[in-house]
Amino acid sequence: MSVFESVEFTAKRVAGVTGVYKNKLLDNLQKRLARHVAGDEAAIESDEQALLALLESELNLAFVEQSTKSLAAVHFLANELLRRRYLLLDDGLEMSPLMFKVQQRIMQAQLQSDLASLRNEKLPSTEEEFKEWFNKKCANYKHSPHPLFEYIEHDASLAEYRNFIETEAAVHVSFDDVIALAQIGVRGSPKLEFFDNFQDELGSSDPEKFHLTMFGRLVSALEINTVRQSDIAWQAVACGNYMLYLAHFRSLYHYCAGYLGFLEALTPKRFSSIAKGGARLGLSEHVLAYHYDHSELDVKHAEGWLDNIILSEIKEKGADVARLFALGVLLRELVSKRYWDAILNTFSAAK
Ligand SMILES: [Fe+2]
Ligand SMILES: [Fe+2]
Repeated sequence: MSVFESVEFTAKRVAGVTGVYKNKLLDNLQKRLARHVAGDEAAIESDEQALLALLESELNLAFVEQSTKSLAAVHFLANELLRRRYLLLDDGLEMSPLMFKVQQRIMQAQLQSDLASLRNEKLPSTEEEFKEWFNKKCANYKHSPHPLFEYIEHDASLAEYRNFIETEAAVHVSFDDVIALAQIGVRGSPKLEFFDNFQDELGSSDPEKFHLTMFGRLVSALEINTVRQSDIAWQAVACGNYMLYLAHFRSLYHYCAGYLGFLEALTPKRFSSIAKGGARLGLSEHVLAYHYDHSELDVKHAEGWLDNIILSEIKEKGADVARLFALGVLLRELVSKRYWDAILNTFSAAK
């Protein structure tokens, strides 16, 4: 297959999702893609009102009724659309005004719902307050970012470990692209922090050490070839979607920088546990290098990100940006906890 994933392939993949959830919204997207494949140029944009009505009813079920199936449906749909900003795909969805509307409705509903749950949080407003607040928050996770990672390090079976990496692979976003998109419009010395991080993502110019390639080695070693979408929790898809969404929009820049800063801060412990768990299960150091390397590298990333991207801007602009960065941190905390809780619950439920 060329660098462009074929439209037919995409339609089949989306069909796989509908087959699992039997969901009208995903069916609708699949039909549009199928008609597009068959040469109907107007298929993606057609019947706008019908699609939007379907979407609103699904959003209501997802965010008011808290239906797990509807949350999965809207997040899989948003994922299909957001991915178009990151992959070389050309199937009519990326440029579609209707699909943009759909993507925005879903992600705004999720963001509003999450921000509403954070409205009573006390947020820092100065550089000093932010530093203290952030360090205190990180200290809460000093031992481990989540019990899931203690479980993976010490107790997970190979099947559970593989299952977790399968989910990670399914919602994985190439971090070099995230960094590339997040830094657009950033000027001055914070740009250099993005640049350093970007260089590390690209293995300091060694293609063998591109982080995506390194992660791919673990995925191959575990013989993960296709991922059944029914096996992926909506909370995991939502976690992936957040990164795609926040990095893409300039108006969400501060949330994104806070989100990524906190992600970097909790990665060393998390990845160290994943590496140690893999070693315990007999995986080689070579295939675990992605996780071993980040256990050290992200200590540096987290410090640089905090000082050169977050604190430097708070120093310059004050309370308004401090609060936005802090909300980004809290969003990451909330979204990742939701994902990790879901995985750990699945493991516990299967016992
Ligand atoms: Fe990385
Ligand atoms: Fe990093």
